[in-house]
Amino acid sequence: MRSQSTVPNVKMLPVKQTLNKAEVKRLDKVSAPDNSSDVTKHLPDDIPVALRDTPSVAPTTVDRSMLRAGLITLGAIAIAASVLVAVQFQRSQQTQSDNTAIAANSAQSPAGASPTPSPTASVNTDAMLGHFRYAEATQGELGSIAADGSIKLRKAAAKAYQEMQSAAQQEGVSLMPLSGFRTLTDQDYLFFGKKAERGQVAAERAKVSAPPGYSEHHTGYALDIGDGAVPATNLSPDFENTPAFKWLKANAPFHSFELSFPKNNKQGVSYEPWHWRFVGDRASLETFYKARGKK
Ligand code: DAL
Ligand code: ZN
Repeated sequence: MRSQSTVPNVKMLPVKQTLNKAEVKRLDKVSAPDNSSDVTKHLPDDIPVALRDTPSVAPTTVDRSMLRAGLITLGAIAIAASVLVAVQFQRSQQTQSDNTAIAANSAQSPAGASPTPSPTASVNTDAMLGHFRYAEATQGELGSIAADGSIKLRKAAAKAYQEMQSAAQQEGVSLMPLSGFRTLTDQDYLFFGKKAERGQVAAERAKVSAPPGYSEHHTGYALDIGDGAVPATNLSPDFENTPAFKWLKANAPFHSFELSFPKNNKQGVSYEPWHWRFVGDRASLETFYKARGKK
């Protein structure tokens, strides 16, 4: 039988509204080499709309106004952040200058208040004739270390000394307190009265006695110790040969006491094996060590 048409049979298939890919390919190959674009537009687009890189329409007026509002908001945030940074910087500058003022004030006034709980500690940058300037402890800060109440130390130092004396006694060593807290008047007498009798110039006198206002004894943390068994060595370099000194040398650090004027000390003060100071709390440590930049 003769074919009624030269068109392939496939064209005579029932027309479907949508064609699957296999069908399209077949059509392309057989009869429609030039209409691929027409076919393609029937294919499902398998890239989600949100990921297509070419927007189908230009930004609308609404989009532009939203963009403008966003830019204005960002600008406002940037300005606010700049103002905040500027204010913070100004505050930190102010704090630095306040701290400098406090430090300078403390340096000028040894009795000046400390920012933390060590109200009686002094910041010591002042020195004269090899001695540092010290504030005088008040009577209320002192406790007695002698039975008759004649020798006093600051309370923390008094407690530590009494414990140290008991410890020495248990080992058969007799520590004898000779001098503790001294007022400026006491030191004035020692420096200008008693020492002047020796006919020494001030610098010579300062080697054995601090000028008033510059003695560790003002602080209530320092004391002179003798050997109760060898009183002849009191306040003498020979004290270093006594059992008391030997015991102190080995044991005083355990009780937070140290020798203030060892041999060849930097201050140029004569060797005083009898003179010890308490450095067992923050206030005492600051009193003797803070800001000692010069003699
Ligand atoms: N003997 C010491 C230096 C004083 O007078 O403080
Ligand atoms: Zn002394």
